[in-house]
Amino acid sequence: MTTSSAPGKVYLFGEHAVVYGEPAVPCAVERRARVTVEPRDDGRIRVDAADLSLDGFTVTWGGSIDDRPDIDVPAPLVEAAMKYIEAAVRQARDAADAPDAGFDITVESAIPLGAGLGSSAAVVVAGIDAATRALGTELDPEVVARRAYEAEYEVQDGQASRADTFCSAMGGAVRVEGDDTRTIDAPPLPFVVGYDGGAGDTGELVAGVRALREEHAFAADTVETIGDLTREGERLLAEADPAREPSEDLLSELGALMDFNHGLLEALGVSARSLDAMVWAARDAGARGAKLTGAGGGGCTVALDPTDETELALGYTAECEQSFRAELATEGVRVEEA
Ligand code: MEV
Repeated sequence: MTTSSAPGKVYLFGEHAVVYGEPAVPCAVERRARVTVEPRDDGRIRVDAADLSLDGFTVTWGGSIDDRPDIDVPAPLVEAAMKYIEAAVRQARDAADAPDAGFDITVESAIPLGAGLGSSAAVVVAGIDAATRALGTELDPEVVARRAYEAEYEVQDGQASRADTFCSAMGGAVRVEGDDTRTIDAPPLPFVVGYDGGAGDTGELVAGVRALREEHAFAADTVETIGDLTREGERLLAEADPAREPSEDLLSELGALMDFNHGLLEALGVSARSLDAMVWAARDAGARGAKLTGAGGGGCTVALDPTDETELALGYTAECEQSFRAELATEGVRVEEA
């Protein structure tokens, strides 16, 4: 039995714009997906996803998700989760040169699904790591990141950027610009996450921005401006001492860029009433900055606040189902049990 875990992430800057070659800075946060894998001899795949959704589900199939039994969970949710797991299994079989390997797979995740915290990337990263280890092959985190990206690319019909998978595999703060992916230094930023209990449809949201961008030069400019503010944010991070708590000046400057980034995402049509309400609740509580994180449409916001005020205020905000502090996860994918 082999268990690996991988963290979720928040976007400090740059979601959506990253799809068009602009830089983005996602940061891994200490909310993990854990995937446990036990090889089986009959080539079948059995998935037990105890808390991947509120209900959880168990699915057994041999070769194709089409022959799975009926189960008591919304079909699109199972469909989506199974596609990611199936793609991760394909990558693990290929990496370990074991095309017929079967697995019992248990997925436990503390990362809300489809809510902008990189849940699918974390499951795919941890799944590839655990399954290859279970087959006696140990991959470098960079290789896990590349294979996880290929898995996501396949499931998301080529719309995925490398940001989520690279960040989850490597941990810490990262910078992604097209195919160029690297880890960068960042001080321990005081992230506070607000979650509205919902989720956006990443494919639809990405397609919406693409259409706007193709139709209007000002929408294309908006995407470019997100790239500009991301570069500005990177400069601020590069000047900071990663070993020290961030200064008030740094938090205010990063926060102002986050506020700007949220406004531009709103203009591109990917925010939601609930996300705007959480962003404003955070700002009113004294957060240094706040924005939606991930594809948008619903899901999560991220704020910078070293005090407890934002978390407290979000707790009293009708649109917020859950709020929590999210520490920067310095470690990416890791084996928990071999
Ligand atoms: C989704 O988490 C982030 C997007 O930028 C899409 C991607 O980067 O693959 C919207």
